[in-house]
Amino acid sequence: MSDDKIAQIVAEARAEIAQCNSADQIESLRVKYLGRKSAVVAVLRGLKDLDGEQRKAVGQQANEAKEQIELLLADHLQSLGGAKSSQNAGLDYTLPGKRYPEGKLHPITRTLNEIIDIFYGMGFEVALGPEVETEYYNFGALNFPPDHPARDMQDTFYVGKDTLLRTHTSPVQIREFEKRKPPIRIVAPGRSYRQEAISARAYCVFHQLEGFYVDHDVTFADLKGVLVAFAQTYFGDDVKMRFRPSFFPFTEPSAEVDISCFLCGGKGCRICKHEGWLEILGCGMIDPNVFKSVNYDPEVYSGYAFGMGIERIAMLKYRIDDIRLFFNNDIRFLRQF
Ligand code: DAH
Repeated sequence: MSDDKIAQIVAEARAEIAQCNSADQIESLRVKYLGRKSAVVAVLRGLKDLDGEQRKAVGQQANEAKEQIELLLADHLQSLGGAKSSQNAGLDYTLPGKRYPEGKLHPITRTLNEIIDIFYGMGFEVALGPEVETEYYNFGALNFPPDHPARDMQDTFYVGKDTLLRTHTSPVQIREFEKRKPPIRIVAPGRSYRQEAISARAYCVFHQLEGFYVDHDVTFADLKGVLVAFAQTYFGDDVKMRFRPSFFPFTEPSAEVDISCFLCGGKGCRICKHEGWLEILGCGMIDPNVFKSVNYDPEVYSGYAFGMGIERIAMLKYRIDDIRLFFNNDIRFLRQF
């Protein structure tokens, strides 16, 4: 088909379209000029039989003709005041766009991400472990004596004789020690479960972040350094830290760590129950018995570990006074983060 022929089709279309006075007429012209049996489409179909240069030239003309006719149809339809059947015409570009609701991260996810980022920056990798654990990983390998009260059905959700919902993230230590050799520097975030009386301060499921570092000559000073750096990054440079002697089966010596209350600066207020200090984590030097259960020589290696409750930290940071709010999924609560 020649240039002239294509130009002629456009001219005919233009003339016919100008005569239209209803959307239906426009629609039938659309079929006539752009439908499957139209001359323009026939040209486009025939392109495959043409050779290179010609195909390019004719194809371009046919496409331009198609666009022109579409525009003529759309313009005329708009001038008739009806645009319902058109794709391009009749749009009111001044109308506000559709708003799609925007999702957000849960405050616990957000808190975890922020904390992980800080440790990642200090060279820690991230590892995960299963939430359904065996007694061995959750207790035995962590040096809990056979009659330890935490092993009791009263405190722990058992799902089988030897299987349970992990009561802390510490079993990830054992799983990672079994998989590799020191140096190991890991944080392990995740859910933990305890059969506790539900209250504003305790819920049956919660999140922890476990951290541990094993190498030659790791000392308590290394542990302090890392935890102080973490607290200052997360809570602010002015925060003070206090290490209180404590006990955990899997660490010796052990400590519980408090930060100075950032609300009252340590003077005493409702949040810190007038003590000036807030407990945020447990930690210590990994007990030689733990190393023995994974065949690490305690004469060769030493290491530290720590574990923090994420809900507790998020509650302190965002001044939330009831842990259950994290699990109700009340959209009014979640929207605030
Ligand atoms: N697993 C302890 C708990 O759930 C927290 C903890 C304390 C973890 C001391 C540690 C640690 O790694 O060294 O109460």
